[in-house]
Amino acid sequence: MKELNQMTLTFSARSVNESFARVAAASFLSQLDPTLQELAEIKTIVSEAVTNCIVHGYAEGTGSVRMKVQIFEGNKVRITVSDKGRGIADIPQAMTPCFTTGNEDRAGMGFSIMQGFSDRIRVRSRSGKGTTVVLDKYIGGRHDGSNL
Ligand SMILES: Nc1ncnc2c1ncn2[C@@H]1O[C@H](COP(=O)(O)OP(=O)(O)OP(=O)(O)O)[C@@H](O)[C@H]1O
Ligand SMILES: [Mg+2]
Repeated sequence: MKELNQMTLTFSARSVNESFARVAAASFLSQLDPTLQELAEIKTIVSEAVTNCIVHGYAEGTGSVRMKVQIFEGNKVRITVSDKGRGIADIPQAMTPCFTTGNEDRAGMGFSIMQGFSDRIRVRSRSGKGTTVVLDKYIGGRHDGSNL
């Protein structure tokens, strides 16, 4: 599948940057003319993925979060969020609804929300090395990307 456009951001794993990442992704993807609902879904996906890096990946320290947003032919968007934090030992367990290793503020619903608002989610992780979440989403269908 042909990549038409992409952007990559690297930022400190600080909670103030969660809203920055969300707005940056939405702003970049506005060229696809998404609906308000699609934009809200994209922002939520990015929020959940970035928050996980900050809260879980770097629970015991600090580091960087990388977010790549790609636009492919056929209105396909890929959002890749990665950290070099503590990693996930058991990915299927982590993706189970309501599973959390966090405190009482965590519902364990982040991965379920990412899954619900995207067309495909893949998670790669190695304990002690970090985590990468790849989210694919098709936008609209009203735009063929021919002017990109
Ligand atoms: N980037 C990450 N690094 C390390 N562990 C992670 C990462 N992302 C998720 N996890 C693990 O997967 C679990 C489930 O993540 P999920 O986002 O579904 O729920 P949560 O973050 O615990 O709660 P919520 O997202 O509802 O606030 C987390 O509790 C954590 O153990
Ligand atoms: Mg979460």
